[in-house]
Amino acid sequence: MNDKEMLNAYKTRLEDYLDKLPITGAPEQLREAMRYSLLNGGKRLRGCLLLAACELGGGDAEAALPFAAALEMIHAYSLIHDDLPAMDNDTMRRGKPTNHVVFGEALAILAGDALLTHAVEIMAASGHPKAFHAMGEIIRAAGVGGMLAGQTLDVMNEGAEPDIALVKEIHKGKTAALLTAPLTAGLILAGAEERLVEAGRAYGFHLGMAFQIVDDLLDLEGDPALMGKTLGKDQEEGKLTWPACVGVELARKDAETHIHQAVEALAPFGEKAAFLRALALSTLHRAQ
Ligand code: IPE
Ligand code: IPE
Ligand code: MG
Ligand code: MG
Ligand code: MG
Repeated sequence: MNDKEMLNAYKTRLEDYLDKLPITGAPEQLREAMRYSLLNGGKRLRGCLLLAACELGGGDAEAALPFAAALEMIHAYSLIHDDLPAMDNDTMRRGKPTNHVVFGEALAILAGDALLTHAVEIMAASGHPKAFHAMGEIIRAAGVGGMLAGQTLDVMNEGAEPDIALVKEIHKGKTAALLTAPLTAGLILAGAEERLVEAGRAYGFHLGMAFQIVDDLLDLEGDPALMGKTLGKDQEEGKLTWPACVGVELARKDAETHIHQAVEALAPFGEKAAFLRALALSTLHRAQ
């Protein structure tokens, strides 16, 4: 299998698992709103990274599926809430109307809450011997010092003067945290030694920073049909973005530097990390 086929294989496996995931006990409207945002496409980058990291560490990807699914659920929750009128006020996501446009704000808020709590539920029920440790990584990344910190700084600084140090904090929190967790959690589930978990952490961080810098660039110059969301919104809302601070050219250079650092961090894994290396490099040229 080449790298693209491998990514597709992880994606298919994960989507099949997500589709079959029972959401028992939920009122039908809540279940529908959850599934709408969980199963409506998306690159599945975080979940696939977790499966790949687990296999890189010599673990069983099948047993890691609940954790990959949980990450995609937490990511979907973060997107539902990110799109709400009180936050980024977006009406398109993954080529379809956003959750609150279809189900209303109350149900969208609840669907986000439900995806987060259900993610914890499926990880706790996995019975994996390393579940507690891996969950800690994932929940900490989503929590007050991670994604929520980044999102808070993002919305509280709309219209602020360009400040690259602040943008670094925002990107580290809102995006790099949830791209680091799949690496550390995947390697922990595999029982990898600490030094390899830390190498994975460095890779995830740099990949995540580059991923958000590229997202900022695509907001300026991407194809809305491919991106599946309304572009040009960052400037309109006065968001603190990387290109707003340093310009488009330097932003592109900084994304490249982060990707090189991500690739360097893979050194302890040797040739086995070819897939993660290719995935990082492809981030620089992504159009979606
Ligand atoms: C969107 O993430 C939010 C950001 C962190 C930029 P993705 O670009 O991974 O979104 P999907 O899951 O593929 O839709
Ligand atoms: C979103 O960042 C990050 C999270 C949802 C945690 P953005 O607001 O830049 O993402 P898009 O552009 O709406 O996908
Ligand atoms: Mg946002
Ligand atoms: Mg947004
Ligand atoms: Mg964006």
